[in-house]
Amino acid sequence: MKTPGNLPKFHQYAYPMQTILLTSNDSKGNTNIMTIAWHMPISSNPPLYGVSIAPKRYTHMLIESTKEFALNFVPYEYTYHAHFCGTHTGRTTNKQKETKLTFIPAQKISVPLIKECYAHLECTLKEQYTIGDHTLFIGEIVAVKKDDTAFSKDILNLKNINPACYIGANTYTTLSTTQQHTY
Ligand SMILES: Cc1cc2nc3c(=O)[nH]c(=O)nc-3n(C[C@H](O)[C@H](O)[C@H](O)COP(=O)(O)O)c2cc1C
Repeated sequence: MKTPGNLPKFHQYAYPMQTILLTSNDSKGNTNIMTIAWHMPISSNPPLYGVSIAPKRYTHMLIESTKEFALNFVPYEYTYHAHFCGTHTGRTTNKQKETKLTFIPAQKISVPLIKECYAHLECTLKEQYTIGDHTLFIGEIVAVKKDDTAFSKDILNLKNINPACYIGANTYTTLSTTQQHTY
């Protein structure tokens, strides 16, 4: 049997989504951290990644202004830090200072990466579209970096990494390796 769902909460059906920390800089080089769950790969060649960001986020202004951002994939052990960055604004809070996350230099952009995360995409802003009440920022991936043990032949090694996944309502989970099959 099926029952009608809650349409305004349709996005709950897309969860779990991997939790990402997006870093971006202001014009003076100060870095902000924002948590993202609405994101997706868009194109392989050129390599493009999309993030959907509400205009009221401080990060929205930063990306429009400096046109670079980094995406940092969060391990489950750092969900508290991700939740903090997703519930405080960089307009009034230095989230790096509060969470004590560590910045490390990126390879090709001036925005730093977050050391505690296991994989990183360095992006320059290619295009942006207003779509409904969000902006889809499309980043061209100019460099990627990862922890040495995070991937085996480019596949996430779930024996070494527990990715943080968001399922809405302030709730996070991770993946289990007990049910994995390679075809
Ligand atoms: C797990 C999680 C995922 C989120 N995903 C998004 C998202 O994809 N897009 C968005 O606009 N806001 C999202 N948010 C809300 C922002 O992260 C939040 O408003 C944050 O405080 C914005 O920071 P800023 O003002 O410093 O940019 C999410 C929050 C959480 C906790």
